Amino acid sequence: MKIAVAGTGYVGLVSGVCLAAKGHDVICVDLDQEKVDKINRGEPPIYEIGLEALLKDNIGKRLRASTDLREAVIASDLSLIAVGTPFDGSAIDVSFIRQVAREIGFALRERDEYHMVVVKSTVVPGTTDDVVLPILERESNKKAGVHFGVGMNPEFLREGDAISDFMNPDRIVVGGNDEKARDMLAAVYAPFEGVEIVRTNPKTAEMIKYAANSLLATLISFSNEIGNLCASIGEIDAQEVMRGVHLDKRFSPIMADGTRVSPSSNTYLEAGCGFGGSCFPKDVKALIAHGKRHGRDMALLDAVVSVNAEQPAKMIELLDKHIANRKGVKVAVLGLAFKPGTDDMRESPAIPVVQTLAEEGAIIQAFDPIAVDEARHTFSGLDIHYAPSMAAALDGVEAILLMTRWDEFAGLPALVSSMDSPPVVIDGRRMLAKDSVPRYEGIGL
Ligand code: UDX
Repeated sequence: MKIAVAGTGYVGLVSGVCLAAKGHDVICVDLDQEKVDKINRGEPPIYEIGLEALLKDNIGKRLRASTDLREAVIASDLSLIAVGTPFDGSAIDVSFIRQVAREIGFALRERDEYHMVVVKSTVVPGTTDDVVLPILERESNKKAGVHFGVGMNPEFLREGDAISDFMNPDRIVVGGNDEKARDMLAAVYAPFEGVEIVRTNPKTAEMIKYAANSLLATLISFSNEIGNLCASIGEIDAQEVMRGVHLDKRFSPIMADGTRVSPSSNTYLEAGCGFGGSCFPKDVKALIAHGKRHGRDMALLDAVVSVNAEQPAKMIELLDKHIANRKGVKVAVLGLAFKPGTDDMRESPAIPVVQTLAEEGAIIQAFDPIAVDEARHTFSGLDIHYAPSMAAALDGVEAILLMTRWDEFAGLPALVSSMDSPPVVIDGRRMLAKDSVPRYEGIGL
């Protein structure tokens, strides 16, 4: 199939490159000439494991980038809208979606064959039907369901695993207003054999994405509420509690041969210093705001957000137990990215922690394997010493705050054991054994 992808951000570029790799003819469109040139040279403008190799394999063959959306739409059977939908505090901002829909609609005036327009961006239920479809009809002077089809196809891509998630999907959600639209959208995924497809209407497709992310965020905040209570009661370790919960056969099924399945969803059922990233915080808040507009009070998801907002401060509370006045005290912050495998710091729990320490006058020695450039940007104006290695970050510190579950932090106990006066280690991810360092504190302990 000939496919135009509008937007070469994270979702658009990954989708475009993977669809080309699966045999479609893809034109990736972006306003930014520099980005388009880079893509055409085989240089991905973002970092994602496996992206560069796949881009280089396909560019100039089944894949090209362009700034001309009109030309791309006229030449394609299907357009994917993959532009950003930032949350402005009260609603998602769909101005980029509107703009692209206007351009696609206008281009459809010049296309005689049926064309399918698909929203891939995360949008609140109703956006495809109530915002995109009317714009397309108005701009094209044509009728949805007759001259063109409209659909919604959410992505489920984890940062750092986006290529692998796209190429090996666990499900494909095909939202369309009629059978023809759904058939055409499903045909895009024909090369992904054996994957379960949810065929539904666009509103349900939109809701699936929010429900999935909200559930995962709820699991994390639930675990954190239990963890905080364990810590208050005393002599209970939330890690043991959650392990006991995971072993319920409904969470970790026992197979006929007696072996256990440990679903990765259980890793969201652990106490820690909170979730971040570009999706969970934004999507949960956007769904709450949307629910309130529909007269729902969204009490559970409100609590998910407020529990998460308090979680980074738990790191500071644990530090209080050992060092009440941090002025002039050296503190190491290990991990700045919101999760391992990325340099993304959006909504990272490390941000409020570093800001608090800076306000208190602590001497901050920060280390992250890849997010330091990003951190310099996020913390511009703050006096932070960025260490070139984990070992260098520990020089002379009285406390270590472990904020991100990077694998290499498993080597921390060996480094601490060689220090003359061992600092207190505050484990925000519960990744170290409690007895692995002389002075240990952990969330939920
Ligand atoms: C998420 C969803 O997983 C993905 O399906 C969706 O399309 C976009 O949002 P992402 O934000 O990349 O992807 O990150 P994810 O790996 O899910 O991590 C989100 C947060 O959950 C992080 O703050 C992380 O610390 C936490 N997390 C992640 C856990 O607590 N446990 C885990 O096993 C993984």
